[in-house]
Amino acid sequence: MLTVALPKGRIAKETLEIFERIFGDSFAFNDRKLILDTPNFRFLLVRNQDVATYVYHQAADIGVVGLDTLEEQGLDVIRLLDLKRGICKVAIGMRNGEKLDLNKPDIKVASKMVNITKRYFEQRAVSVEIIKLYGSIELAPLIGLADMIVDVVETGATMKQNGLEVVEDIMTSSTYLIANKNSYITKKNEILDIYEKINQVIKAEQKA
Ligand code: PRP
Repeated sequence: MLTVALPKGRIAKETLEIFERIFGDSFAFNDRKLILDTPNFRFLLVRNQDVATYVYHQAADIGVVGLDTLEEQGLDVIRLLDLKRGICKVAIGMRNGEKLDLNKPDIKVASKMVNITKRYFEQRAVSVEIIKLYGSIELAPLIGLADMIVDVVETGATMKQNGLEVVEDIMTSSTYLIANKNSYITKKNEILDIYEKINQVIKAEQKA
């Protein structure tokens, strides 16, 4: 029996569809239920930011979460497989026409991804003030809270509609299958079995 942590929303739906394809069974959470029990798997529906926490503490053996979230949180889990879904970028955005000038003093950066932001500027030896926000990041440069943002860009529509544009890409992200380190030893066969099966599905999609 493997416990699988899935993030609420599109990724959970897409992951359950992969399991349906593999096992030819129906996998769906019932209404507001947060646990889905099947003969071989127990699925947990958690917040995106909590997936790696469940896996790290072995409340789940495996999970599915974006690389951006993994990089931001830095929890020690095994990154088993890139599911080639949920592809997006973490990028620096500024108001249209503005240029990224790292020599400018007192740069203020708004982001919900403070660790990724901190690392990016530290690697360039630029000292910045990071302002932690929890959402609607694009608002910050518009009303003068920050000079720039570090945020997730998927279609680019949010930045565009708010008069912002990407001035620099920081990383590309996609959804990953992750595993708890102990589970990977004690339940190695089960984990490798589902890893192989999911990998087949992903490979078949890549070829199609
Ligand atoms: C994310 C991100 C951007 C938006 C990017 O926000 O923070 O705002 O999606 O997507 P786009 O490039 O396709 O427009 P999310 O929907 O997670 O909401 P949040 O602002 O509450 O974090």
